Amino acid sequence: MSASIKDSVVVVTGATGAIATALIAELLARGAAKIYAAARDVSGLAATGKIVPLKLDVTSDADAAAAALQASDATLLINNAGVNHNTAFMLAPDLAFAKEEIEINYLAPLRLTRAFAPVLIRNHGAVLNILTILARVNLPLMGSYCASKAAALSLTQGLRGELTPKGVRIVGALPGAVDTRMTAGLPIPKMTPADAAKEILDGYEAGEEDIYVGDMAKGLAAGLAQDHKAVEKQLASG
Ligand SMILES: NC(=O)c1ccc[n+]([C@@H]2O[C@H](COP(=O)([O-])OP(=O)(O)OC[C@H]3O[C@@H](n4cnc5c(N)ncnc54)[C@H](OP(=O)(O)O)[C@@H]3O)[C@@H](O)[C@H]2O)c1
Repeated sequence: MSASIKDSVVVVTGATGAIATALIAELLARGAAKIYAAARDVSGLAATGKIVPLKLDVTSDADAAAAALQASDATLLINNAGVNHNTAFMLAPDLAFAKEEIEINYLAPLRLTRAFAPVLIRNHGAVLNILTILARVNLPLMGSYCASKAAALSLTQGLRGELTPKGVRIVGALPGAVDTRMTAGLPIPKMTPADAAKEILDGYEAGEEDIYVGDMAKGLAAGLAQDHKAVEKQLASG
């Protein structure tokens, strides 16, 4: 279980997204040997020396199995693909948004980790789940997204218990707001995807298990440690 990015072989899901793009640039800068850039639409992803586009819809069992077969040299799986409908529980017209968020933010990292577990056990590898600080406290204006990420945080803890004894390191990254299309409508301070990617990989290489990314995430984590209910009320008040 190495914490170093150098010479690692990385699978990044949702590779067309903003944080994934920044992560890939940062992984290359830190000496990753190969990166499987996994996306449901790979038409915009160019194959270069170290980048191998990989067709992967994270909702598909068949795609996940095929990806694990092709990327059998992987040492790090980054579950990054995500969706946020930015909708409150009571404002959603029905359960479709909540179901999609659960499918992509919770069930997909579970599906991918199950598919890649034999590879990662064999290669003494790691899983890095891109969560959010909102996995730890609900922001009602995007309530169902937070619930799905809370499930993914619990998944991360459970996987750690199951797979650490088998030599696979399980890490969660909990960023605050990052300036991507996911937060386009939110008039709040946001960090750049490049800064987020650097902090995520700094924490990963430092051997952290729960990586709080950016001032917002660190501030909320400190608040939660001090007075959980006060932070819950603060976020409920908008
Ligand atoms: N932005 C933030 O403030 C923030 C904060 C904390 C955590 N995060 C997390 O960071 C991760 C990346 O988000 P981002 O901000 O970079 O958003 P983004 O630019 O919208 O990227 C999301 C990525 O997920 C992919 N995706 C969605 N459904 C998929 C599916 N079924 N199969 C494969 N890929 C799928 C998207 O692919 P398409 O291009 O095909 O749609 C896109 O590449 C997410 O897990 C998000 O929850 C974001």
